[in-house]
Amino acid sequence: MKENLKSAFEKAYGSPAQVFAQAPGRIEFIGNHTDYNGGLVMGVAIDKVIMCAVAKRDDRKLCFTAAKTGEKVYVDIDSIAPQKRDHNWVNYPLGVFKFLIEAGLKADKGFNFIDMSSLPSGAGLSSSAAIEMSAALALSKLYGFDTDLKTLVRAGRKSENFFVGMPCGILDQGVSGFGKKDAIVYIDCLTEDFSNFPLPHGCKFWLFNSTKKHALVDGLYADRHRECMKAAEILSEGGEKRLLRSFGLADLEKAKGKMSEVVYKRARHIIEENGRVLKTKEALLKGDIATVGKLLSASHKSSRTLFENSCEELDFLVDTLAHFGHVYGARLSGGGFGGAVMALTDSEFSEADAKEVSKIYEKKFGSAPLVFTCTAGDGAKLC
Ligand code: GLA
Repeated sequence: MKENLKSAFEKAYGSPAQVFAQAPGRIEFIGNHTDYNGGLVMGVAIDKVIMCAVAKRDDRKLCFTAAKTGEKVYVDIDSIAPQKRDHNWVNYPLGVFKFLIEAGLKADKGFNFIDMSSLPSGAGLSSSAAIEMSAALALSKLYGFDTDLKTLVRAGRKSENFFVGMPCGILDQGVSGFGKKDAIVYIDCLTEDFSNFPLPHGCKFWLFNSTKKHALVDGLYADRHRECMKAAEILSEGGEKRLLRSFGLADLEKAKGKMSEVVYKRARHIIEENGRVLKTKEALLKGDIATVGKLLSASHKSSRTLFENSCEELDFLVDTLAHFGHVYGARLSGGGFGGAVMALTDSEFSEADAKEVSKIYEKKFGSAPLVFTCTAGDGAKLC
């Protein structure tokens, strides 16, 4: 891919790129919607990446080229703001640049930018975080901004929150940044601590994307965000405002009468999901993969009944996978309301098994899911 990107850059700009960087997509392993609640979450960086190439310009323009169409978008370095409609695809790297400047990057001149992907698009693997993290790394190197990975991850998340307009947490950028081959990324989103620990040998991940996207998915994600913040506000009443992470089930039960049934259910999901993430960590460290599988299934059940961000297609995939051998557990992965189910399997689960799942799904819903398998790969790096 690097060779293709190199020539695409030269074709677009007539001179060679100076820095190349790559960052992977991610799978949310467990911890659904816990991240923006200051909670615990685990993800896996996958072995498919987005790569970008950059070089400095002589003027104060930022130029982004769409590799597929050759279309160029120019932004003035002195008036960086979110781009609208047809140009909104540049917001991911543009926002990153803006927040790197806020973090201390000194930009004397503009830059040229182009990216390329080996991530299947629309598969629920967070290609947006992969763009953000590869751009963060490439641009900080280009401008000699010597900073730590956490600062790059934060710039990626801010870009998503304030340029793309998605009130997400730090999971996607954190995993894309801190991923490690054959390892889980464990994030404490309250302290923003990132750590890795090894996956049991022989595990494989399968993603079954329903290709269903709820028409209101962005709005529904924002609704869940608001409901969680409401619960946290009620629980914090009278004291310093804290996120849901700071509360336990006993606190929630005490305050139950002060909140709507919906808000109660959302909060219960988050509080219990944090507990499941902790238990998953313990089980993984002990090599007790059967327990991990049960926790993954319990997480899905909670998304289905309490957080209500599953849908018929995802439930069907999870239920179907439960009847297959070699599957430890399965759950919806990511924002929900359509999207993908992740299954953790042993190495014996085969393409033929995956095809069988697809066939059963297709018989019910009329179209096959997008199926994808991967192992855990490294996080963002220069290349
Ligand atoms: C999306 C968001 C993440 C996280 C998950 C749900 O992937 O981008 O920040 O909130 O949904 O866990």
